[in-house]
Amino acid sequence: MKKITMLLLAMSIAFSQNQLIIPPAMTGNNFELTLQESEMEFFPGIFTQTMGVSFPILGPTLIMEKGEEVNITFDNQLPDTTTIHWHGMHVPAEFDGGPHTPIPPNTVWNPHFTVKDHASTMWYHPHLMHKTNEHVQMGIAGFVIVKDDEEALLDLPREYGVDDIPLVFQTKTLDDNYQIVTNMDSSGLDLYLFTNGTIDAYFDVPAQIIRFRLLNGSSERSFNIGLDNNESFSVIGTDGGLLAEPVELNQLLMSPGERYEILVDLNDMTGDTISIMNFGSTIPDGVYGAGTVGGMGGSSIPYYADNSLNGSDFTLLELRITNPTDAPITSIPASLVTVSPWNPDDVDETRTIQFSPVNMGPDGALNGPFQFNGQPFNINVVNYEIPLNNVEIWELQNQSQIAHPFHIHDVQFTILEIDGQAPPLHMQGWKDVVLVPPQNGTAKFITKFEDFSDTSVPYMYHCHILTHEETGMMGQFIVIDTSSAGIEEFESLPTDFTLYNPFPNPFNPNTSIRFDIHVDARNVSRIQIFDITGRLVDTLIEDILEPGIHEIQWNGSNQPSGVYFVVLEIGNHAQTQKLILLK
Ligand code: C2O
Ligand code: CU
Ligand code: CU
Repeated sequence: MKKITMLLLAMSIAFSQNQLIIPPAMTGNNFELTLQESEMEFFPGIFTQTMGVSFPILGPTLIMEKGEEVNITFDNQLPDTTTIHWHGMHVPAEFDGGPHTPIPPNTVWNPHFTVKDHASTMWYHPHLMHKTNEHVQMGIAGFVIVKDDEEALLDLPREYGVDDIPLVFQTKTLDDNYQIVTNMDSSGLDLYLFTNGTIDAYFDVPAQIIRFRLLNGSSERSFNIGLDNNESFSVIGTDGGLLAEPVELNQLLMSPGERYEILVDLNDMTGDTISIMNFGSTIPDGVYGAGTVGGMGGSSIPYYADNSLNGSDFTLLELRITNPTDAPITSIPASLVTVSPWNPDDVDETRTIQFSPVNMGPDGALNGPFQFNGQPFNINVVNYEIPLNNVEIWELQNQSQIAHPFHIHDVQFTILEIDGQAPPLHMQGWKDVVLVPPQNGTAKFITKFEDFSDTSVPYMYHCHILTHEETGMMGQFIVIDTSSAGIEEFESLPTDFTLYNPFPNPFNPNTSIRFDIHVDARNVSRIQIFDITGRLVDTLIEDILEPGIHEIQWNGSNQPSGVYFVVLEIGNHAQTQKLILLK
């Protein structure tokens, strides 16, 4: 009760509204970022300690192109070890940024990978064991916007910060001094809503079709997104890509970790004000954020009943509508992209994961800790070894009182069933989080474990309620390349990685490189070009290569004439060929 009075007080201090923060966008192939401590003046005259990525709170939006090689550095200037995970992205395990890839203070982590995802809205956030919730709550998180050719052909809003707007919704607990509380016992007091790190936010938007990239970045709370005028909006994208066609909805439930892209029609509304709302009053029982969760035998989540956000409708962002831009998008495309889910007929393996409380009392069934298949997370145990290229169905069974948003790394999946039914249309796209309903609720998805195998670094799967994840509701898998059992026997590659062409040397920037690989090494191969000083000039391929002749294009027109080395790496082995570039 004391906290609620405090909230009212806080609201009266902050009666004036704040302009929404739009995280700055970064483009290109190189992203240099710093993890840092900082502070924000959320309330006039009061400074709240925060953490951010090159900014006082949150981090820049990294805009990446599918097919491009990106190179990222995270310089950790926090007093703490952390990690940065690419939530939703299909990247090699060593660069996935899970709990196995710590970044100690004063060190730099340098993940680099080829972007393989569909055009989508992904995000990055810390993932160190026992520190994920703390670091996310303090403010570390950012968007990744992936673009691709298919999306580029569509008539969609894509002017960042104007008609294409990222929105991350997060609730936090603040103490009497307005400092962020990260201890998990107080997590039920998440009374303060932040939209893009802004309290009580408004934003000016032009009177046309606006694309919002929504992310629920909260540790526990689900939101039920809608508009205060109850008009419908069009869902165009799920976690990992665009839908086949827009789906019209009035309310959209989003659990932690999930993203949706929506289009809102503001044509002819210049001068109006509308709000994006959370309709908490219609969140189903058992989902964190609803008026009631479980409640079996009088049990409850600590502070839940006192938290005025639970079960109530409140504003997430006020939109003040201004004149349209010069070349506005004014209509919603009828169709979007081709979504090609994996076929259940091709399934190699079906796995079942049961969610259950560690302690079977009424309190345990609601508050956890929870575990998968009767085992709490153990960082030294690999729960599944998955053969590379396996198509799998995962069946999730929730034997607890609360709904859990299940998330898996490495892959995007499509949902086959929720509680035995086909998922609603707006969920029939690529997903990496699925909310599994409470009280014997089930969900089933299909996916394929492609491209990356690694016998030493696992990928994770877990509940994205961060307090559940950190108290044991997590597991891990490695993807193993069973067909490459022989690769370990090579001391080095056989000496027949041959550049056929350019032939005869020298190479000019308009020819393509042909080469022959004789090994059946069904492992990820990488071809890189270095200059004579050893500087990496380009990465041409990062993929599984069949033995045989391949042809690739290297555009060396920006490089000076001279000697270069083409290096083929398969697994741990590398082999080099010389190339003379002449322009
Ligand atoms: Cu968004 Cu494993 O996390
Ligand atoms: Cu993830
Ligand atoms: Cu959970």
